[in-house]
Order: sequence, then C-alpha cells, then structure tokens
Amino acid sequence: MKQLFIAVFAIIIIITLVVLAFTTDQVYREEQRLKSDLEYRSTLLADSLKETVEPNFISKSDRQMQYLVNKFENEERLVGMNIYDNKSNPVATSSSLTSEMPKAKQIASDAMDHDQATGDFVQAGKQKIYLLAVPLHDQNSVVGALMIAQNASYIDTRIEETWKNNLIRLFIQASLLSIATLFLIRWIIFEPIKNLRDLLRSTSTGEPGKKFPNLSGSFFFRPLIKEVTNVRRSLMEARSAASEEARLRLEKLDSPWTAERLKEFVKDILKGRTIFMVSNREPYIHTKNGGKISYYIPASGPVTAIEPVMQSCGGIWIANGSGDADKLVVNKKDKIQVPPDEPKYTLRRIWLTDEEETGYYYGFSNEGLWPLCHIAHNRPTFRKEDWEEYKKVNQKFADTVLDEIKNHDRPIVLVQDYQLALVPRMIKAKRPGAVVGLFWHIPWPNSESFSICPTKKEILDGMMGADLIGFHTQLYCNNFIETVGRELESLIDFEQFTITRNNHISYIKPFPISIAFPNGFDEPKNENYKKECKELVDNLGIKTKFIGLGVDRMDYIKGILERLKAIEIFLTQNPSYKENFTFIQIAPPSRTKIKKMVDLSEAVDTEVNRINSLFKKGQWKPIILLKKLHSHEEVKKFYRLADFCLVTSLHDGMNLVAKEYAASRYDEKGVLILSQYTGASKELKGALIVNPYNGEQTADAIREALEMSIKEQTKRMRNMRETIRNYNVYRWSAELLKTIVNLG
Ligand code: G6P
Repeated sequence: MKQLFIAVFAIIIIITLVVLAFTTDQVYREEQRLKSDLEYRSTLLADSLKETVEPNFISKSDRQMQYLVNKFENEERLVGMNIYDNKSNPVATSSSLTSEMPKAKQIASDAMDHDQATGDFVQAGKQKIYLLAVPLHDQNSVVGALMIAQNASYIDTRIEETWKNNLIRLFIQASLLSIATLFLIRWIIFEPIKNLRDLLRSTSTGEPGKKFPNLSGSFFFRPLIKEVTNVRRSLMEARSAASEEARLRLEKLDSPWTAERLKEFVKDILKGRTIFMVSNREPYIHTKNGGKISYYIPASGPVTAIEPVMQSCGGIWIANGSGDADKLVVNKKDKIQVPPDEPKYTLRRIWLTDEEETGYYYGFSNEGLWPLCHIAHNRPTFRKEDWEEYKKVNQKFADTVLDEIKNHDRPIVLVQDYQLALVPRMIKAKRPGAVVGLFWHIPWPNSESFSICPTKKEILDGMMGADLIGFHTQLYCNNFIETVGRELESLIDFEQFTITRNNHISYIKPFPISIAFPNGFDEPKNENYKKECKELVDNLGIKTKFIGLGVDRMDYIKGILERLKAIEIFLTQNPSYKENFTFIQIAPPSRTKIKKMVDLSEAVDTEVNRINSLFKKGQWKPIILLKKLHSHEEVKKFYRLADFCLVTSLHDGMNLVAKEYAASRYDEKGVLILSQYTGASKELKGALIVNPYNGEQTADAIREALEMSIKEQTKRMRNMRETIRNYNVYRWSAELLKTIVNLG
C-alpha cells in the first residue's frame, strides 16, 4: 500500500512540474502579447491626439489644451493626458492625473530628447498604467510633449486568471490521474499478484479446501500464471504422494519422522480435535524500528522445538506478546496468523503489565524456579509479591485457554514449562474433560533441593492438574515423583510411573525433546554459500586455521565463564595453537532485568578481555564475543565453519544447540564437546563428554577435537546425526500426543 501511495505521489509531482513549466511559458507569452498590443494601440491614439493638440500648443491656447485633456480623460482604457512644455513642466493635466505619475516627467523628457515616442509601464497605487509620450513640434523643433496614460491593470488580471485556470485544471488532472492510477495498479498489478501469492500459499500449505483464485483477467501475468499453475500441480502431486507414503509408514515406527508424517499421524489420532499450545515465550516477536515493523524468532529451546510441530499440525498457540509492535499487528481478538510470511497456525497473544512481568517472569519464574531447578549454585530468591504475580498471570493464561477451548468438546492443551506450573490445575478445575499435558523443559532437581521452595505444595498441586507431565530424562521424572511423594499426599505407582491424587491420575514420562532434523533440504550446495561463510570469517578479521564455537543465551547456567577458563588453559598448555585458533562465542542478552544476568554479562566481557590481552599477538586474539542475537540461518553458517562446538552448561534440561550443531553438519565433520550435565549428553554418544567445572578436562577435549582424524570425526558425527534423525522433534511430539490422546 505504501508503494502505491509513493507511485501516486510521484505522478502528482511530475504532473505539477509539467503544468507549472507550461503555465509559466504561457503566461510569459500572453503578457508580452497584451503589452505590445497596448503599446501599439497607445501609439495610434497618441498620434491622432497629437494632431489636435499641436496647433493649440503653438498658438499657446492654454484653455483649449485644458479643454482637450479633460475631454479625453477616463475614456475606455484612457485614464488621462498630460501636455508638457519643452522643460518637462506640465502645461495641461487631466483631473484624473493630478497626482504625479512615477517616471512621467522622465518619459516626457526622453521623448523630447530623442524626438520619438517613448513609453513605459508604471505602478500608480494599485493600478498598473502605461505611459506613452510623443514629442510636439513647432515646424522643425521640439517644443513640448503629449503624454497619454492607459490603464494596463487588465493585463495582470488576465495573467492571474490564466494561473488560476491552469491550477484548477492541474488539480482536476492530478486527482483523476491518481484515482485512475490507484485503480489500474490495483486491478492490473496488485490483485493478480495477491491472487498469485494466495495460490502459492495454498500450494505450500497444502490446504485442501482452499479456493483456487480467479486469475483469468490478469493479462500481464498470463505467462507467469501458466508456470505457477504447473509448479502448483507438481507440488500437489508430490504432496499427495508424500502424504500417502507417510500414511503407509504410520505403522512402521522405525522409519524416520517427518513433518508430513506427523501431519498424517495427527490427523489420524486427533480426528479433528484442535491442539492448544500454551507457553510464556512466543514464537514470533514483532518490533518497531524507525516506524518499520519487523519480527524475529527468539533464542529459546522450546520455541525452536515446538514451532516446526505447530507448522505441520496447525492449531492455536497462546503466549505472552512481549514485542513493542506486537499489539500493532494482531486482530481484535489479539490473534495473528504465523509464520508471518507463510501462515500455518494462529498465535494468540496475552498482554502483561510491567508489574506482572516483574513479579511473574523476572521474579518468581527466573529468580526463583530457574536457579532452583538448575542447581547452578546461584541462590534462588523467592518473594511473596512475586508469587502473587505468578499466580495472577498463570490465571490469566488459564482464562485465555478456557476462552479458546470453550467451543471444543475434548480439547488437547499442551502447557509448556516452568513459567506456567499452575495452569494445568486451573484449566482442569473449570474443564475436567479437557486433556492437559505439561512439558517441563528444564531439569527437575532432587526432592531435597526442591524442598526449599516456600510454595512447593501449590506448585506441585498445580502441575498435578495435568494428565501427563513430561520431562527430558528419566532422572528428572524420578526426581519429580520423589518430590511429590515427599510433599503431597498421593499414591505413587513406580511400575506405571503414575501419581494418583484426589482420584486424578497424572502420568510422568520422559520425552527427550529434539529439533526438526532438516532431512537435507537446507543442505548448502552452491559456491555462493561457501563465499558467504568465508565473508563471515573475513568480516570478523579471523585468519586462523582452526575455529571453535559457543552459542548460548547469556545465562549463568550455560557455563560461559567456565568455558573461557578452559580456553585459557588450552592455549597455555598448547602454545602451538596460538595464532592458529579462534574461539567465537555468540551470546545474545537474556532476561536483562535480572541483576545476576547483567553481572554475568559484565564478567564475561572482563574475562574475554583478560584472556585476549594475555595471548594477543599482532592482529590475532583468541576470543571473539558476539552479543547480538543471530538468526537461525546466520548461526547455521557458524556451525558449518566451526571445527568444534563447545557446550559447557552447568546444568541444562536438554540443550538443543548441541543437536543443532550436529544436524547442520552435512559434511559429517566437526566435533561436539558436551557437558555431562545436559540432557543431550544422555543421547549424543558421539560427543566428547566433559565436566564443565573441570577446566583441564575441557581443555584436553579441545585439543582432542582439533587433532581428531577426519575418519573419527565422521564416525562420531554420523552417530549423532543418526540419533537426532531417528528421534527428531516430530517423533517427540508424535509420542507426546499419542500418549496424551490415549489418556482421554
Ligand atoms: C529455556 C526455558 C524456556 C525459555 C528459554 C528462553 O529454554 O526453558 O522456557 O523460553 O529458556 O528464555 P526466555 O526467558 O527468554 O524465554
């Protein structure tokens, strides 16, 4: 739309300039014409009057001369007459010219000096006057002058009218042309393009009921439409073949899970029931930058994992709208179709006040539960007022879910993570028939550690509203069951891994989350890609042979300081790698209102500077810290460049960076160094496993990674890729959904 207005504006400017240029020229010519016409007529009049005046002048008949000048005043355009003697003194003057005309004497004197008619235009008050003087003769000598004054104001009036008429014409032309342009662009370009876009979109989403847009009138786009229609047909055929294949594969659990297979599976088991996903973090955040709205995908494990599932299953995702332009892009019901460029499901945003965000998100969730569950040696802080906000916001989420599911018979609600622990119970209290799952994306500590939480019973009771509670590992499940056994009155079945409380059964099961293993479609094959990667390195001024990489949110559980220490130890112990090795740490800011996160960010800066100045030589420094949030595409380039990826979380539920690194390595090269305290370390057997608190051990692993033979790298990488391919996020959600659907 904006472009449309720019085009119309440009047309108006061009028309205006053209009209102005033509009018200026027209006005100039008209003025010249009117002036010379007046000059000509004045000369004729002056010459004829001269014949009457001259005899009286010679006979010095003043009375007759005064009679004459009075007789000819105010006749048509003739304002009046003056007769001058040879010293340019007025001898007779029309009463209408009593006040002295500017330049009159000068004109009369010039006419006498040059013995010829002399004229000029002068301004007398508001009137424009043409003064013309002709010399009067006595036989051969000049004895005086006759001057006539003609009204020339009509010339200005005529010029003004010309301008007025042309400007009115300009306005009408510009309006008509703008309207015509708007309609033409809309009909000829905009509508067909929109239809083409709809056609392509319906093709890519494969929505069966989608009406084929009418493109018959699109004369300009006919050749393009033909091609697009062919592509659409081939895609539809391929899609239907893939879907048939996926359907046939449903029973064979050992074949790989894909988006298509999950879609078929979900259709099969849900039988039209809608999935309602609930999380604090939203998958797309809209922001405003200098009036322009754009969006980004946040750095969040759950978002990375769940987004592809929602894309293939559809449904509604309820989350906190945290972007400064989020409110500008939603409809009246706070909804927006996403992904914004290719909508596949609905995002419903919930708005939080600053107070709610402070207490619920920063306070109870991230200063309380987060350190409590991660046992990262950061004391959790529990404040009464944070807990109140936590309860309030959980109720807000639950109410929104209840509103969304009100017209659904047996809705399936999947609540995500520790920010929403109370939501399952709140939903169940109002809709006992809804099937509710809760997935806990962070670790669950042992019962002893958890017991310090002042509101532990309410938290556990809230969670126990869910029919199914999922964790990444069996260890977390065991810890949770033990915690409930210790804190709440309940019946625990260790064979089935169920907890019964107030006649309601909750199943506790591990579902190790994963990523959408890309199945090759994003494999970079062209030369350009290599060039882009090279540019990335060049832009950072990296010239070294070896590159190591870390990708984390700036969070104390990620063990970034421990990792930097390990790099220092590695370079001290292996000086031959100096100037040969660069470590890139990508660490976008996270939860920046929490002091511990801000302190950490500063401590990381200090540590990077300390280590860099310790080893720095010429242009080379060992560590490059990038604090900006990078897109998935950008991060993938770094993954593909890095000889090793260092994941040293002090405690992490899963850590999807580890899986993403392996999934990006189509070349089956590169080494993953992985903390033993991540969920991923239980699955990725090809990684070099380290204790992040042991700097020497991590330093040894770095050396081992850099010196590992290609054959060994390939063996390990192939093993890890195989694991992720077999247990990707589609399988994760299929198993989670299958379990939950079987419950109700
Ligand atoms: C972890 C949590 C998520 C959270 C993510 C990013 O993965 O389990 O719930 O979304 O970190 O943190 P943020 O606070 O920015 O959402």
